[in-house]
Amino acid sequence: MDKAYIPTSTVAGEDAKRRAAQAALDELPAGGAGAHGQLVVGLGTGSTAKLFVEELGARVRAGLKLVGVPTSEGTRALASSVGITLLDDEGPWAIDVNVDGADEVSAALDLIKGGGAAHTREKIINFASRRNVIIVDDTKLSTRLGERWSVPIEVLTFARGTTRAALARYGNPVLRQRDGGPVRTDAGNLIYDLAAGAIEAPGALDRALHDIPGVVETGLFVGRADVVLVAGDSGVRRLVRG
Ligand code: A5P
Repeated sequence: MDKAYIPTSTVAGEDAKRRAAQAALDELPAGGAGAHGQLVVGLGTGSTAKLFVEELGARVRAGLKLVGVPTSEGTRALASSVGITLLDDEGPWAIDVNVDGADEVSAALDLIKGGGAAHTREKIINFASRRNVIIVDDTKLSTRLGERWSVPIEVLTFARGTTRAALARYGNPVLRQRDGGPVRTDAGNLIYDLAAGAIEAPGALDRALHDIPGVVETGLFVGRADVVLVAGDSGVRRLVRG
């Protein structure tokens, strides 16, 4: 489940991710400057978003003017290392386009995110962006969310047993662990991966999970993708919501 820490990608998978990342460069507003005079780009987290940040850094070094907003400490470090200037964490930001990966994409273009434990910041930046572009390889596609992935849920450490018991009404919550200890998010919280099976109504489930005190954020992104770029053997497909 915690693939961000257990690399399983193949060379072919890496190539597909790279093609999706490169295709996302075409989603930047034409002409460079965004609606607010400077181009502002949300920078996702994960192995596919990492490739996009690297590609974007190459464009910046070639003269493209933009600033970024990172969705994790890992992405902050990467973006800085490739030459992308970053805005501060406070906001508000006028993000023209946000480019991020996903763990699962349904036929309705809803998403499960959070395999890298970054979904809370990712959802905030998604919410603050005029357009959201998701880059995936075709192994991420499913009919209904939950068919392939559990739902990552960031929770406070305090009363985690109580929170876990409430989560268990909706599936099997498994504490995410690494190296013998719990995974911590950038905010110092815990992750439960909720195996819920195929989800009939992801929006309703998201609202129900948010009603549980102690839940910080879920990895359900419902109606949050404007464009999904899906890379496979036959090229990159561009799927548009609605
Ligand atoms: C990070 O928490 C996630 O939401 C990632 O965006 C998601 O896990 C996709 O990661 P990969 O591109 O590594 O599959």
